[in-house]
Amino acid sequence: MLYPVILSGGAGTRLWPISRESHPKPFIQLPDGQTLLHKTYRRAVNLPNVGEVITVTNRDYYFRTKDEYQATQARLASTYLLEPVGRNTAPALAMAALYVGERFGPEAVLLALPADHLIANPDAFGQAVAAATQLAQQGCLVTFGVQPTAAETGYGYIQVGDPQPPGYAVRRFIEKPDAASAAAFLDSGGFYWNAGMFCFQAQSLLHAMERACPHLLQAARQCWALTTQSGTPGSGMVELHAASFSQLPDISIDYAVMEQAHNVAVVPCDLGWSDIGSWSALSQLVEPDEHGNRHIGHAVALDSYNTFIQSERHLVAAVGVRDLFVVNTDDAVLVVHRDKVQDVRQVVQHLKQHG
Ligand code: GDD
Ligand code: MG
Repeated sequence: MLYPVILSGGAGTRLWPISRESHPKPFIQLPDGQTLLHKTYRRAVNLPNVGEVITVTNRDYYFRTKDEYQATQARLASTYLLEPVGRNTAPALAMAALYVGERFGPEAVLLALPADHLIANPDAFGQAVAAATQLAQQGCLVTFGVQPTAAETGYGYIQVGDPQPPGYAVRRFIEKPDAASAAAFLDSGGFYWNAGMFCFQAQSLLHAMERACPHLLQAARQCWALTTQSGTPGSGMVELHAASFSQLPDISIDYAVMEQAHNVAVVPCDLGWSDIGSWSALSQLVEPDEHGNRHIGHAVALDSYNTFIQSERHLVAAVGVRDLFVVNTDDAVLVVHRDKVQDVRQVVQHLKQHG
Protein backbone atom coordinates (compact mmCIF):
# COMPACT_ATOMS: atom_id res chain seq x y z
CA MET A 1 0.00 0.00 0.00
CA LEU A 2 1.09 3.55 -0.75
CA TYR A 3 0.27 6.61 1.37
CA PRO A 4 0.47 9.90 -0.52
CA VAL A 5 1.13 12.87 1.77
CA ILE A 6 0.01 16.16 0.26
CA LEU A 7 1.95 19.14 1.61
CA SER A 8 0.05 22.35 1.30
CA GLY A 9 1.42 25.35 3.13
CA GLY A 10 3.64 28.06 1.65
CA ALA A 11 2.25 31.31 0.25
CA GLY A 12 4.16 31.53 -3.08
CA THR A 13 5.01 35.22 -2.81
CA ARG A 14 6.16 35.59 -6.43
CA LEU A 15 2.54 35.11 -7.55
CA TRP A 16 1.26 38.11 -5.60
CA PRO A 17 -1.47 39.46 -5.78
CA ILE A 18 -3.36 36.22 -6.47
CA SER A 19 -1.31 34.16 -4.00
CA ARG A 20 -1.52 35.47 -0.45
CA GLU A 21 -1.21 34.09 3.04
CA SER A 22 -4.98 33.84 3.16
CA HIS A 23 -5.10 32.37 -0.35
CA PRO A 24 -1.86 30.46 -0.94
CA LYS A 25 -0.50 29.03 -4.14
CA PRO A 26 -2.16 25.56 -3.91
CA PHE A 27 -5.58 27.33 -4.04
CA ILE A 28 -5.02 29.65 -6.97
CA GLN A 29 -7.12 28.91 -9.99
CA LEU A 30 -5.24 28.06 -13.15
CA PRO A 31 -6.46 29.01 -16.61
CA ASP A 32 -8.30 25.66 -16.87
CA GLY A 33 -10.32 26.54 -13.74
CA GLN A 34 -8.66 23.91 -11.52
CA THR A 35 -6.34 24.57 -8.61
CA LEU A 36 -2.91 23.03 -8.06
CA LEU A 37 -4.31 21.31 -4.96
CA HIS A 38 -7.15 19.77 -6.95
CA LYS A 39 -4.68 18.46 -9.52
CA THR A 40 -2.32 17.13 -6.85
CA TYR A 41 -5.14 15.24 -5.13
CA ARG A 42 -6.31 13.77 -8.43
CA ARG A 43 -2.76 12.66 -9.17
CA ALA A 44 -2.57 10.98 -5.76
CA VAL A 45 -5.88 9.10 -5.89
CA ASN A 46 -5.25 7.87 -9.43
CA LEU A 47 -2.13 5.98 -8.35
CA PRO A 48 -2.52 2.23 -7.82
CA ASN A 49 -2.69 0.71 -4.31
CA VAL A 50 -3.31 3.93 -2.42
CA GLY A 51 -4.35 3.17 1.17
CA GLU A 52 -5.47 6.65 2.10
CA VAL A 53 -4.41 10.18 1.31
CA ILE A 54 -2.86 12.21 4.11
CA THR A 55 -2.84 15.98 3.87
CA VAL A 56 -0.70 18.16 6.08
CA THR A 57 -1.90 21.74 6.04
CA ASN A 58 -2.71 24.71 8.23
CA ARG A 59 -5.91 24.38 10.23
CA ASP A 60 -7.25 27.54 8.57
CA TYR A 61 -7.24 25.73 5.20
CA TYR A 62 -9.10 22.60 6.36
CA PHE A 63 -12.57 23.32 4.95
CA ARG A 64 -11.27 24.77 1.73
CA THR A 65 -9.04 21.74 1.24
CA LYS A 66 -11.94 19.37 1.84
CA ASP A 67 -14.06 21.29 -0.68
CA GLU A 68 -11.30 21.04 -3.27
CA TYR A 69 -11.07 17.28 -2.78
CA GLN A 70 -14.81 16.80 -2.88
CA ALA A 71 -14.94 18.62 -6.21
CA THR A 72 -12.77 15.87 -7.71
CA GLN A 73 -15.49 13.29 -6.90
CA ALA A 74 -12.80 10.80 -5.85
CA ARG A 75 -13.84 8.57 -2.99
CA LEU A 76 -10.91 7.57 -0.85
CA ALA A 77 -10.16 7.67 2.86
CA SER A 78 -8.51 10.96 3.82
CA THR A 79 -6.69 12.08 6.90
CA TYR A 80 -5.88 15.72 7.59
CA LEU A 81 -3.03 16.58 9.94
CA LEU A 82 -3.74 20.19 10.83
CA GLU A 83 -0.96 22.54 11.85
CA PRO A 84 -1.51 25.56 14.10
CA VAL A 85 1.37 27.37 12.32
CA GLY A 86 3.64 26.57 9.37
CA ARG A 87 6.96 25.05 10.44
CA ASN A 88 8.05 24.09 6.91
CA THR A 89 8.25 20.60 5.47
CA ALA A 90 10.52 18.72 7.92
CA PRO A 91 8.06 18.93 10.85
CA ALA A 92 5.11 18.34 8.49
CA LEU A 93 6.68 15.13 7.15
CA ALA A 94 7.82 13.99 10.59
CA MET A 95 4.20 14.14 11.78
CA ALA A 96 3.03 12.29 8.65
CA ALA A 97 5.64 9.53 9.17
CA LEU A 98 4.69 9.18 12.85
CA TYR A 99 1.01 8.91 11.93
CA VAL A 100 1.49 6.45 9.05
CA GLY A 101 4.04 4.35 11.00
CA GLU A 102 1.75 4.02 13.97
CA ARG A 103 -1.41 3.33 12.03
CA PHE A 104 -0.18 1.27 9.06
CA GLY A 105 3.20 -0.06 10.25
CA PRO A 106 6.82 1.16 10.07
CA GLU A 107 7.35 -0.28 6.58
CA ALA A 108 4.40 1.58 5.05
CA VAL A 109 5.55 3.71 2.10
CA LEU A 110 4.81 7.45 2.04
CA LEU A 111 4.86 9.58 -1.10
CA ALA A 112 5.34 13.26 -0.26
CA LEU A 113 3.58 15.44 -2.85
CA PRO A 114 3.94 19.23 -2.71
CA ALA A 115 0.78 20.99 -3.84
CA ASP A 116 2.60 23.75 -5.67
CA HIS A 117 3.60 22.44 -9.07
CA LEU A 118 2.23 20.94 -12.26
CA ILE A 119 2.92 17.58 -13.85
CA ALA A 120 1.90 17.39 -17.49
CA ASN A 121 2.80 13.75 -18.08
CA PRO A 122 0.75 11.48 -15.78
CA ASP A 123 2.06 8.24 -17.30
CA ALA A 124 5.66 9.19 -16.56
CA PHE A 125 4.57 10.15 -13.05
CA GLY A 126 2.98 6.72 -12.50
CA GLN A 127 6.13 4.95 -13.74
CA ALA A 128 8.40 7.11 -11.59
CA VAL A 129 6.30 6.42 -8.49
CA ALA A 130 6.42 2.67 -9.16
CA ALA A 131 10.23 2.81 -9.40
CA ALA A 132 10.47 5.04 -6.33
CA THR A 133 8.28 2.63 -4.32
CA GLN A 134 10.68 -0.22 -5.13
CA LEU A 135 13.67 1.83 -3.97
CA ALA A 136 11.78 2.96 -0.85
CA GLN A 137 11.16 -0.68 0.00
CA GLN A 138 14.94 -1.17 -0.08
CA GLY A 139 15.20 1.47 2.66
CA CYS A 140 16.11 4.50 0.51
CA LEU A 141 14.93 8.07 0.78
CA VAL A 142 13.89 8.53 -2.83
CA THR A 143 13.92 11.79 -4.77
CA PHE A 144 12.59 12.51 -8.27
CA GLY A 145 15.13 14.06 -10.63
CA VAL A 146 14.09 16.59 -13.27
CA GLN A 147 16.49 17.46 -16.11
CA PRO A 148 17.69 21.01 -15.32
CA THR A 149 17.37 23.66 -18.02
CA ALA A 150 18.87 26.70 -16.28
CA ALA A 151 21.06 27.59 -13.32
CA GLU A 152 18.02 28.14 -11.07
CA THR A 153 18.86 28.85 -7.46
CA GLY A 154 15.38 28.13 -6.09
CA TYR A 155 15.65 24.34 -6.38
CA GLY A 156 17.51 21.46 -4.79
CA TYR A 157 20.24 19.83 -6.91
CA ILE A 158 20.85 16.10 -6.96
CA GLN A 159 24.23 14.69 -7.99
CA VAL A 160 23.77 11.22 -9.46
CA GLY A 161 25.93 8.36 -8.20
CA ASP A 162 26.12 4.67 -9.11
CA PRO A 163 23.16 2.82 -10.61
CA GLN A 164 20.83 1.40 -8.02
CA PRO A 165 18.05 -0.21 -10.07
CA PRO A 166 15.46 0.96 -10.84
CA GLY A 167 17.20 4.33 -10.18
CA TYR A 168 20.52 5.69 -8.95
CA ALA A 169 22.20 6.30 -5.65
CA VAL A 170 22.64 10.00 -4.85
CA ARG A 171 26.16 11.25 -4.27
CA ARG A 172 25.16 14.64 -2.96
CA PHE A 173 22.00 16.66 -2.41
CA ILE A 174 22.44 20.44 -2.39
CA GLU A 175 19.45 22.59 -1.48
CA LYS A 176 19.18 26.02 -3.15
CA PRO A 177 22.82 26.53 -4.14
CA ASP A 178 24.19 30.00 -4.86
CA ALA A 179 24.23 31.15 -8.50
CA ALA A 180 27.88 30.21 -9.11
CA SER A 181 27.42 26.66 -7.77
CA ALA A 182 24.19 26.18 -9.72
CA ALA A 183 25.99 27.25 -12.92
CA ALA A 184 28.89 24.88 -12.15
CA PHE A 185 26.47 21.98 -11.57
CA LEU A 186 24.81 22.66 -14.90
CA ASP A 187 28.15 22.83 -16.71
CA SER A 188 29.55 19.67 -15.18
CA GLY A 189 26.44 17.58 -15.94
CA GLY A 190 25.33 14.67 -13.77
CA PHE A 191 22.95 16.84 -11.74
CA TYR A 192 19.17 16.90 -11.59
CA TRP A 193 16.73 19.37 -10.09
CA ASN A 194 14.84 17.99 -7.15
CA ALA A 195 11.14 17.92 -8.06
CA GLY A 196 10.23 18.33 -4.38
CA MET A 197 8.49 14.93 -4.13
CA PHE A 198 9.89 12.17 -1.93
CA CYS A 199 9.17 8.51 -1.34
CA PHE A 200 10.24 6.52 1.74
CA GLN A 201 9.08 4.05 4.34
CA ALA A 202 7.89 5.66 7.56
CA GLN A 203 10.78 4.05 9.44
CA SER A 204 13.40 5.24 6.89
CA LEU A 205 12.49 8.88 7.40
CA LEU A 206 12.38 8.51 11.17
CA HIS A 207 15.78 6.76 11.22
CA ALA A 208 17.29 9.43 8.98
CA MET A 209 15.88 12.15 11.27
CA GLU A 210 17.30 10.38 14.30
CA ARG A 211 20.74 10.86 12.77
CA ALA A 212 20.35 14.20 11.00
CA CYS A 213 18.02 16.20 13.26
CA PRO A 214 17.46 14.31 16.53
CA HIS A 215 16.07 17.35 18.35
CA LEU A 216 13.46 17.91 15.71
CA LEU A 217 12.44 14.25 15.83
CA GLN A 218 12.26 14.26 19.60
CA ALA A 219 10.06 17.36 19.57
CA ALA A 220 7.89 15.82 16.84
CA ARG A 221 7.46 12.61 18.86
CA GLN A 222 6.46 14.66 21.86
CA CYS A 223 3.92 16.58 19.80
CA TRP A 224 2.55 13.32 18.41
CA ALA A 225 2.26 11.80 21.90
CA LEU A 226 0.31 14.85 23.12
CA THR A 227 -1.84 14.83 19.98
CA THR A 228 -2.78 11.16 20.41
CA GLN A 229 -3.27 11.09 24.18
CA SER A 230 -6.73 9.72 23.69
CA GLY A 231 -5.68 6.99 21.23
CA THR A 232 -4.41 6.61 17.64
CA PRO A 233 -6.59 8.65 15.33
CA GLY A 234 -8.55 6.94 12.56
CA SER A 235 -9.14 8.58 9.19
CA GLY A 236 -10.46 12.10 9.46
CA MET A 237 -9.22 15.30 10.99
CA VAL A 238 -6.33 15.42 13.46
CA GLU A 239 -5.51 18.74 15.07
CA LEU A 240 -1.83 18.59 15.96
CA HIS A 241 -1.14 19.61 19.55
CA ALA A 242 -0.70 23.37 19.11
CA ALA A 243 1.73 24.37 21.86
CA SER A 244 4.21 21.56 21.17
CA PHE A 245 3.96 21.79 17.37
CA SER A 246 4.75 25.50 17.55
CA GLN A 247 8.00 24.61 19.36
CA LEU A 248 9.28 22.62 16.36
CA PRO A 249 12.13 24.19 14.37
CA ASP A 250 11.16 25.90 11.10
CA ILE A 251 13.17 23.94 8.54
CA SER A 252 12.58 22.13 5.25
CA ILE A 253 13.10 18.41 4.72
CA ASP A 254 15.75 19.30 2.14
CA TYR A 255 18.04 21.04 4.63
CA ALA A 256 17.11 18.98 7.68
CA VAL A 257 17.39 15.50 6.12
CA MET A 258 18.18 15.21 2.41
CA GLU A 259 21.48 17.12 2.54
CA GLN A 260 22.70 14.94 5.41
CA ALA A 261 21.37 11.45 4.68
CA HIS A 262 23.52 8.70 3.13
CA ASN A 263 20.76 6.50 1.75
CA VAL A 264 19.26 8.93 -0.77
CA ALA A 265 18.30 7.60 -4.21
CA VAL A 266 16.96 9.31 -7.32
CA VAL A 267 14.54 8.31 -10.02
CA PRO A 268 15.26 10.48 -13.07
CA CYS A 269 11.99 11.30 -14.82
CA ASP A 270 10.48 13.36 -17.57
CA LEU A 271 7.28 14.49 -15.88
CA GLY A 272 6.53 17.68 -17.79
CA TRP A 273 7.22 19.27 -14.42
CA SER A 274 6.65 22.97 -13.88
CA ASP A 275 6.93 24.74 -10.60
CA ILE A 276 4.65 27.67 -11.62
CA GLY A 277 7.04 29.71 -9.53
CA SER A 278 6.43 33.05 -11.21
CA TRP A 279 4.01 34.98 -13.41
CA SER A 280 6.14 34.09 -16.36
CA ALA A 281 5.68 30.34 -15.70
CA LEU A 282 1.95 30.74 -15.06
CA SER A 283 1.45 32.75 -18.26
CA GLN A 284 2.91 29.88 -20.30
CA LEU A 285 -0.22 27.87 -19.54
CA VAL A 286 -2.17 30.14 -21.90
CA GLU A 287 -1.80 30.07 -25.69
CA PRO A 288 -0.39 33.37 -27.04
CA ASP A 289 -1.97 35.35 -29.89
CA GLU A 290 0.10 36.18 -32.99
CA HIS A 291 1.86 39.02 -31.13
CA GLY A 292 2.78 36.92 -28.10
CA ASN A 293 0.04 38.43 -25.91
CA ARG A 294 -1.59 36.11 -23.38
CA HIS A 295 -4.73 36.86 -21.38
CA ILE A 296 -6.81 35.39 -18.60
CA GLY A 297 -10.20 36.99 -17.89
CA HIS A 298 -11.22 40.37 -19.28
CA ALA A 299 -8.49 41.99 -21.33
CA VAL A 300 -7.83 43.75 -24.61
CA ALA A 301 -4.35 44.45 -25.98
CA LEU A 302 -3.96 46.72 -29.03
CA ASP A 303 -0.67 47.34 -30.76
CA SER A 304 0.95 45.46 -27.85
CA TYR A 305 3.50 42.67 -27.81
CA ASN A 306 4.39 39.93 -25.35
CA THR A 307 2.02 41.21 -22.68
CA PHE A 308 0.24 39.12 -20.11
CA ILE A 309 -2.98 40.43 -18.59
CA GLN A 310 -5.08 38.70 -15.97
CA SER A 311 -8.20 40.38 -14.66
CA GLU A 312 -10.94 38.67 -12.73
CA ARG A 313 -13.66 41.25 -12.95
CA HIS A 314 -12.72 44.55 -14.58
CA LEU A 315 -11.80 44.95 -18.19
CA VAL A 316 -8.14 45.87 -18.61
CA ALA A 317 -7.08 47.47 -21.90
CA ALA A 318 -3.46 47.92 -22.94
CA VAL A 319 -2.36 50.02 -25.91
CA GLY A 320 1.12 50.25 -27.36
CA VAL A 321 2.94 48.38 -24.61
CA ARG A 322 5.27 45.42 -24.67
CA ASP A 323 6.83 42.91 -22.28
CA LEU A 324 4.49 43.79 -19.41
CA PHE A 325 2.64 41.59 -16.94
CA VAL A 326 -0.54 43.15 -15.56
CA VAL A 327 -2.58 41.38 -12.91
CA ASN A 328 -5.74 43.00 -11.63
CA THR A 329 -7.67 41.68 -8.63
CA ASP A 330 -10.40 43.21 -6.48
CA ASP A 331 -7.98 44.98 -4.18
CA ALA A 332 -4.61 45.14 -5.91
CA VAL A 333 -3.02 45.70 -9.33
CA LEU A 334 0.40 44.42 -10.29
CA VAL A 335 2.34 45.87 -13.20
CA VAL A 336 5.74 44.30 -13.71
CA HIS A 337 8.25 44.12 -16.55
CA ARG A 338 8.89 40.67 -18.04
CA ASP A 339 12.52 40.76 -16.82
CA LYS A 340 11.52 41.49 -13.24
CA VAL A 341 8.87 38.84 -12.53
CA GLN A 342 11.14 37.14 -9.98
CA ASP A 343 11.19 40.36 -7.95
CA VAL A 344 7.45 40.39 -7.29
CA ARG A 345 8.22 38.75 -3.94
CA GLN A 346 9.77 42.09 -2.93
CA VAL A 347 6.28 43.62 -3.03
CA VAL A 348 5.20 41.17 -0.34
CA GLN A 349 8.28 41.95 1.76
CA HIS A 350 7.67 45.66 1.30
CA LEU A 351 4.02 45.34 2.33
CA LYS A 352 5.02 43.32 5.42
CA GLN A 353 7.44 46.06 6.47
CA HIS A 354 5.42 49.11 5.53
CA GLY A 355 1.82 47.84 5.61
N1 GDD B 1 1.86 21.52 5.51
C1 GDD B 1 2.84 22.35 5.20
N2 GDD B 1 3.39 23.09 6.20
N3 GDD B 1 3.26 22.44 3.93
C2 GDD B 1 4.26 23.29 3.67
C3 GDD B 1 4.88 24.10 4.65
C4 GDD B 1 4.40 23.97 5.99
O1 GDD B 1 4.86 24.65 6.93
N4 GDD B 1 5.84 24.84 4.06
C5 GDD B 1 5.81 24.51 2.75
N5 GDD B 1 4.85 23.59 2.50
C6 GDD B 1 4.49 22.98 1.22
C7 GDD B 1 4.34 24.04 0.13
O2 GDD B 1 2.98 24.43 -0.01
C8 GDD B 1 4.79 23.27 -1.09
O3 GDD B 1 3.70 22.55 -1.64
C9 GDD B 1 5.82 22.28 -0.55
O4 GDD B 1 5.54 22.15 0.83
C10 GDD B 1 7.28 22.71 -0.77
O5 GDD B 1 7.52 23.91 -0.08
P1 GDD B 1 8.16 25.19 -0.77
O6 GDD B 1 8.32 26.24 0.28
O7 GDD B 1 7.41 25.53 -2.01
O8 GDD B 1 9.61 24.62 -1.13
P2 GDD B 1 10.58 25.17 -2.26
O9 GDD B 1 9.85 25.31 -3.54
O10 GDD B 1 11.28 26.37 -1.74
O11 GDD B 1 11.65 23.98 -2.39
C11 GDD B 1 11.26 22.63 -2.52
O12 GDD B 1 10.69 22.37 -3.77
C12 GDD B 1 11.57 22.54 -4.92
C13 GDD B 1 10.78 22.17 -6.18
O13 GDD B 1 9.65 22.94 -6.31
C14 GDD B 1 12.55 21.80 -2.30
O14 GDD B 1 12.19 20.44 -2.11
C15 GDD B 1 13.52 21.95 -3.47
O15 GDD B 1 14.61 21.07 -3.30
C16 GDD B 1 12.80 21.63 -4.77
O16 GDD B 1 13.68 21.78 -5.88
MG1 MG C 1 7.86 25.46 -4.04
